[in-house]
Amino acid sequence: MKLYIETLGCAMNVRDSEHIISELQKKEGYTLTPNLHEADLILINTCSVREKPEQKLFSEIGHFAKYKKNGAKIGVCGCTASAMGKEIIKKSPHVDFVLGARNISKITSIIHKSKAVEVGIDYDDSTYMFADSKKSNFKALLNISIGCDKKCAYCIVPFTRGKEISIPLDLILKEAHKLVQGGTKEILLLGQNVNNYGIRFSNPHPKIDFTMLLQELSKIDGLERIRFTSPHPLHMDNTFLDEFAQNPKICKSIHIPLQSGSDKILKAMKRGYTQDWYLNRIEYLKQRVPNVGISTDIIVAFPGETNEDFEETMKVLDKVRFDTLYSFIYSPRPNTLSHSWGNKGSIKKEIAKERLARLQERHKVILQENSQNEIGKIHKVLIENNRMLLNETYSEGRSDTNRLVKIREFIDIGEVINVRINEVIGSTLHGIMVQ
Ligand code: 5AD
Ligand code: SF4
Repeated sequence: MKLYIETLGCAMNVRDSEHIISELQKKEGYTLTPNLHEADLILINTCSVREKPEQKLFSEIGHFAKYKKNGAKIGVCGCTASAMGKEIIKKSPHVDFVLGARNISKITSIIHKSKAVEVGIDYDDSTYMFADSKKSNFKALLNISIGCDKKCAYCIVPFTRGKEISIPLDLILKEAHKLVQGGTKEILLLGQNVNNYGIRFSNPHPKIDFTMLLQELSKIDGLERIRFTSPHPLHMDNTFLDEFAQNPKICKSIHIPLQSGSDKILKAMKRGYTQDWYLNRIEYLKQRVPNVGISTDIIVAFPGETNEDFEETMKVLDKVRFDTLYSFIYSPRPNTLSHSWGNKGSIKKEIAKERLARLQERHKVILQENSQNEIGKIHKVLIENNRMLLNETYSEGRSDTNRLVKIREFIDIGEVINVRINEVIGSTLHGIMVQ
């Protein structure tokens, strides 16, 4: 039996797809295929964070139905599955089952049912041991929590992934040890609010927080690099930032979602912090880790955002000088608080587009300036790709600050080497290997 799977959305969805694949491979005998037309089972793991990907879903299902082989099943999984539930089967008769983001451990049973819909967001699979992945990789994803307790006014995730539950420490450590034994050198810890780890478990659990989890994980011999995403600015206490700074296994890159620089908008978004708080945390971090790579998410044109509010966001962009910016135009999502406001305060499309373009233009300039400052610096790079052809030999990987680095030498994949940066081309840093 052959499985074709398409994954949209965030790293959490990528990990969910890995779990789906390993369950189907180990327990149902499936093998993966990149060819739609030879698949017996076609899965799409969806995202619903903004409107567009959701619209794309139904044209995608139409495409699957047209090219699939006779008798092949189509399943819709993930966040749009949770958000729309049986609506999906109503809208598209080609769909055989719908499996929500909080229910993916049920994949091996749902594939045998017809027109089943499993989307409950109360379902708790935080202690479910998924089958081991067949593929061994020097970089791996590892879930530390499921769901999200925050109620940001714009965000659909609490309605698709349910309340926040931390995964027990022993399960996380067991999984991490297994990964390292299989050759993993870098682990990316995943959760909606990673630095809120330990807030709630399904069963009694000794008191623990994210800093303690990082300390436990870094004791694992052979695990060279630890990354995590996403932390919440509100839970960035000094203890956590000190651990981030002084623990040599923790990569010095961090995603700190800003969303808006305006106090008024942050309040309306229910983010729980102010511009001052955010900048204070950044300052503390930069004092301790001067070369830290910072990425962020920003939403423009949230309802009620005036030009002055937007200028506050531009101000924060200039102060922090983010290395990576993910920016979006606000998109109203069902069930969310801001959706209930209807058209009140909504921003004209042209203005929203203008703001997004200005933000991105300014960020491009900042990125170029940041990149020039990299020349002469030495970074630890984990090699992810290499090539040796007659006219082209190179290796590339990510610095611990999460920048793409290219070296004109052939180095084995999975090696961690020191590279001195000597050139910037586009947004890629180029350098030479040093001791
Ligand atoms: N509209 C636009 N962007 C959104 N995001 C989340 N919800 C929305 C929405 N309704 C963005 C946030 C979040 C990222 C994953 O997606 O910036 O951090
Ligand atoms: Fe990930 Fe959020 Fe998209 Fe779900 S809705 S896949 S949690 S980005």
